[in-house]
Amino acid sequence: RKIYRGRMASSSVNLEDVPSVDLMTELLRRMKCSSKPDKRLILIGPPGSGKGTQSPLIKDEYCLCHLATGDMLRAAVAAKTPLGIKANEAMDKGELVSDDLVVGIIEEAIKKPSCQKGFILDGFPRTVVQAEKFDEMLEKKGIKVDKVLNFAIDDSILEERITGRWIHPSSGRSYHMKYAPPKVLGVDDVTGEPLIQRKDDTAEVLKSRLASFHRQTEPVIDYYNKKGIVADLHAEKPPKEVSAEVQKVLSS
Ligand code: AP5
Repeated sequence: RKIYRGRMASSSVNLEDVPSVDLMTELLRRMKCSSKPDKRLILIGPPGSGKGTQSPLIKDEYCLCHLATGDMLRAAVAAKTPLGIKANEAMDKGELVSDDLVVGIIEEAIKKPSCQKGFILDGFPRTVVQAEKFDEMLEKKGIKVDKVLNFAIDDSILEERITGRWIHPSSGRSYHMKYAPPKVLGVDDVTGEPLIQRKDDTAEVLKSRLASFHRQTEPVIDYYNKKGIVADLHAEKPPKEVSAEVQKVLSS
């Protein structure tokens, strides 16, 4: 579905060549989406708290775009763009990249047609400065963040989640050796392509990622708490139970 959605947007694609089943699926998706309310969500939590696991489910349910600054930066690093070159060193060390870089990325990304019904921000804002700049940006558009989902979890659980994670880079699908294993070891369930481990998913780099989280990102939760829009989740629970909590918050 994803592939055709992208291609149909370009005039070079002849819709007659698109299989009927794909056209119908896309039509049904759009009809279902048209009745969904707009939602603008922020997901905050330490590395491994489950933001990337829950995002695709929320995205599909509410027809939102999923903007993960970490994924966008990793794509820029892989493509060796000027942005990627600037971000690379900080990411390898588990430190944050500069506020201006990520604010610029988000400003561009939320203009995409797929963000028409709203967005899920995963990994942004990560500093109070980013949150303030983002609020200014939204104010100019006359819109506001509806909810901030706080993936609350104890640090002690995260090392096992992070070091056991395997990823399919092109789709962003994430697996865990113990909690969400692929059908075949080291291979993506959908495409059969190889899975990889992220360079910063080591116990050593996790320490500095967690330090950045506590020092720079936790104050962002207080920032949104003052606005009364934070919902705390029990992110230590199994994925299905976390999903149920998310559903409850978003449907209320
Ligand atoms: P980023 O890519 O955003 O990484 P992160 O915040 O550290 O988050 P993760 O992707 O590691 O965790 P997640 O919560 O998505 O976990 P997941 O669901 O996969 O950022 C990387 C770097 O980019 C940063 O260090 C920084 O340098 C830079 N950056 C990004 N944004 C920035 C910004 N705004 N400003 C400045 N710099 C920025 O789950 C982890 C594992 O656990 C998986 O294997 C999963 O299967 C498993 N799992 C998930 N949920 C459960 C559960 N409930 N029970 C059991 N297992 C579970």
